Amino acid sequence: MGSYKIAIIEGDGIGKEVMAQALRILCELEQLEPEISFQLEQLDWSSDYYLEHGRMMPENWRDILMPQDAILFGAIGDARVKDEVTIWELIMPIRKEFRQYINYRPVQSLPNIASPLEDKTGINFSIFRENAEGEYSNSGGRMFKGEPSEMAIQNTIMTRTGIERITRAAGEYARKHGKCKVTSATKSNAIIHTNTLWDECVERVMREEFPELELESYYIDALAAYFVQRPKSFEVVLASNLFGDILSDLGSGIVGGLGLSPSGNINPEKDYPSMFEPVHGSAPDIAGLGIANPIAQIWSAALLLEHIGETEVAGKVINAIQAVLEENRVLTKDIGGQATTEEMGTAIIEKLNAQYT
Ligand code: NAI
Ligand code: MG
Repeated sequence: MGSYKIAIIEGDGIGKEVMAQALRILCELEQLEPEISFQLEQLDWSSDYYLEHGRMMPENWRDILMPQDAILFGAIGDARVKDEVTIWELIMPIRKEFRQYINYRPVQSLPNIASPLEDKTGINFSIFRENAEGEYSNSGGRMFKGEPSEMAIQNTIMTRTGIERITRAAGEYARKHGKCKVTSATKSNAIIHTNTLWDECVERVMREEFPELELESYYIDALAAYFVQRPKSFEVVLASNLFGDILSDLGSGIVGGLGLSPSGNINPEKDYPSMFEPVHGSAPDIAGLGIANPIAQIWSAALLLEHIGETEVAGKVINAIQAVLEENRVLTKDIGGQATTEEMGTAIIEKLNAQYT
């Protein structure tokens, strides 16, 4: 129990709207748990900030974030600023420089949430996405812009260290949570250099360090189909940066949509602060309407609480989300209701309070 420093970056679009609800939850927890307090550092790093200052974050962003226990992030993306700028000048530097090499994304069925799948209950797996290298690299370049001979090269960078540590993280999680199997996503039949290294490193770490766990390996295209056909057969899914990104939106889709999916960008050694954010982006199509679902953001805050050691409190927040869905009364538009972002926040706060009476 203690006092925690948390940096808050709400970002753009619905990031601001859903973050407001996550902050209400944190305030409520301070009231309900007298021994917990949060020192929140609110940072206005966003597309507005970029338009004013010509950069997404101040030059000393590392000094500001380094002393924090964790970072809670909303979403970024605005039509006035190129996506490559918002992503590569804010999210990527934090994930990469703070060695947040695990991107943890749980996928699970929730009560009363419609799924495009016929049998929607009992889906429960976690995606471990490599988050610091792989296909998301800025190594490469373009030549002959605008000419018929125009060309672009973008290099994928995979290292033994990078693959081994994400494999180890997935194995340790599986062991800790009583899972039996890790599923690796690959495409080594076509991408023969990087993905063959991936396969070899994954196989070696699993065999040497987690001999009790089953390792299965699928080509990403087939795996995408299996996610739809037999999602219950997965327990822990291990994937590179790009494959993990795509699989996690697919995972979100089969359990009810992006409004429900949290994630953590984790530096497990705790040498740097970790960052928690919903899987979704700034949703410009609904930004400003007050109808975004805040569950993904609030659940991300729960993952943050778990990471800083407040496991029991984190569990209460997740229980509160589940209880609201179980009641099936307050639902935002994306999950078939009429409730506003704020009404959903209020409903979760009520269910949180109910656990303390
Ligand atoms: P998106 O995730 O913002 O939206 C995809 C669809 O899901 C939209 O129809 C949206 O209305 C819906 N949706 C997303 N979150 C929702 C919520 N909480 N409640 C209800 N509906 C929700 O992805 P999109 O449209 O591809 O990207 C929009 C912007 O966000 C782009 O600028 C993109 O670069 C950025 N982006 C940022 C991310 C981040 O900050 N980590 C991640 C993904 C995209
Ligand atoms: Mg994504």
